[in-house]
Amino acid sequence: MKKVKLETELTVYDALDQLPKDVIELMNKAKEARKNAYAPYSNFSVGAAIRLDNNKIVTGNNQENASYPSGLCAERTAIFAAGANFPKSKIVTMAIIAGSNEKETDSPIPPCGACRQSIAEYEVKQNAPIAIYFMGVKGKVVKSDSLANLLPLIFDRTQL
Ligand code: THU
Repeated sequence: MKKVKLETELTVYDALDQLPKDVIELMNKAKEARKNAYAPYSNFSVGAAIRLDNNKIVTGNNQENASYPSGLCAERTAIFAAGANFPKSKIVTMAIIAGSNEKETDSPIPPCGACRQSIAEYEVKQNAPIAIYFMGVKGKVVKSDSLANLLPLIFDRTQL
């Protein structure tokens, strides 16, 4: 028997303006996309923006449904749109901004487990890391250099 300790690494920035211009631009696209979230049940709106290696930006937001599980998170809406429309492009960066519509969420909101699994699929497919930035509607921004840092022990195609 042996115990295994897993380590991960994230970078925390105090505010969005400390990040490079291209990341600020991408987060602002996510912010725009968040405005179109359809979240009448949770009142929690999320926007996501993806930069591809051809420099195109693809966005998404959460889309809820009266049959709750039929809705979809912003990150998957965005990444599936990227996969559907630009299947040959690599995903370089994803920016996520999330928060309640009832109060000002000021802590960084990470992608849920199902979204991490979906993002992992594309990271494995393209064999290149996807940098992920996430934040609340204001305040600190967290950067993960790769999805793998957010989801250790991923299940992927190599195990099938
Ligand atoms: N949501 C996202 O869009 N992304 C996440 O990673 C977490 C949750 C959405 C789903 C639902 O519409 C609302 O936020 C509340 O869970």
